[in-house]
Amino acid sequence: MPDEEFVVTPYEVRGRVDYDRLREMFGTQTLGPELLAKLHHIAGADLPPLLTRGIYYSHRDLGPLLDGFANGKPFFLYSGRGPSGPMHTSHLVHFDLCVWLQRRLGVRMYIQITDDEKYWSRAGLTREETAKWGLENLYDILALGFDPKRTHVFFDSRSIAALYPLAIRVARKIPYSTVKAVFGLEPSSNIGWVFFTALQTVPAFWPSWAEGTSIPCLIPCGIDQDPHFRVTRDIAEGLGYPKPALLHSRMVPGLQGDAAMSTTGATADNALFLNDPPKTVERKIRDAFTGGRATVEEQRRLGATPEICSIWALWRTRFAETDQKFDEITRQCRSGELLCGDCKGQLLERVHRFYREHEEAREKAKAWAESTIVTAAPRPL
Ligand code: TRP
Repeated sequence: MPDEEFVVTPYEVRGRVDYDRLREMFGTQTLGPELLAKLHHIAGADLPPLLTRGIYYSHRDLGPLLDGFANGKPFFLYSGRGPSGPMHTSHLVHFDLCVWLQRRLGVRMYIQITDDEKYWSRAGLTREETAKWGLENLYDILALGFDPKRTHVFFDSRSIAALYPLAIRVARKIPYSTVKAVFGLEPSSNIGWVFFTALQTVPAFWPSWAEGTSIPCLIPCGIDQDPHFRVTRDIAEGLGYPKPALLHSRMVPGLQGDAAMSTTGATADNALFLNDPPKTVERKIRDAFTGGRATVEEQRRLGATPEICSIWALWRTRFAETDQKFDEITRQCRSGELLCGDCKGQLLERVHRFYREHEEAREKAKAWAESTIVTAAPRPL
């Protein structure tokens, strides 16, 4: 779309994204107060920051899924990660929400690690790298608090025997023209990449296939992944499976003011990696783009602009633990009471604490990570 100022596809996020417009372009539904209230009621607990602060803002068919759950029909969660390097804090958005949902509702979680996808779609990555990062990323994900007994992992290169019988069926339903149009592939794109979306669909149907009964699926993901799941939803009923419901988040802006915290096309300073040493974390935060004014005097007088600030985005997504703290930071920022240097100092303290706790949890998760990887098909066909 040449006159759009932004681009969002699973393989590219560029420009200043107008998220409401994007939602309209994709044809998804607004995540409004009514649905949030329903979830609050079902969960029997306060909603997490990701839901109260508008990070998740769009969905497909969440209502019927929640009604089904309330009437005794459990669903499962599915989300994933394409390993191309270390995880950064914005990658936690989906898994944080899944942990909360798993704990509150006692549901199963399926995680896909697509070490094939990034090898096919990104130039310059070796197989050794995508496989290595796949495992490293998995430790980070599991460490967020998943329940070992209810969490299952499809690690594409290692789980292919489990995925393939269903991938065979899925792939036959997806025309090449759809893939080409939806993902913007070029005639020179390798055929692995062309096939890949079939594999990203499989986990959404897998439990239903494995158990021979219809089990609803909920996929929390960045709105950039919606094109994959439009394909999934289009073919679901033809294969006899329920269409998965989706919950979409905004992308977390990068530390240098980019649309997304991504390092594709930007420098490593754009993102806070979970394996950054404390000194690097500090430098990145100190150098980060803010919504502040040119001088202290101006900022005291006019206040700053949280909406464009990469530091405020970090408070918003996970580091302001309570809504009260978050509202306070926002108010002080806008009024000019809080200067960017002090705000960064406060944030740093929280980030350091999270890194320490995460490191510990990650070591523990390593002990059981292997046991979650699904390697066998439930049956040959
Ligand atoms: N394609 C996703 C990525 O690039 C990885 C992924 C696989 C995924 N399955 C998913 C993401 C399900 C969200 C939900 O990172």
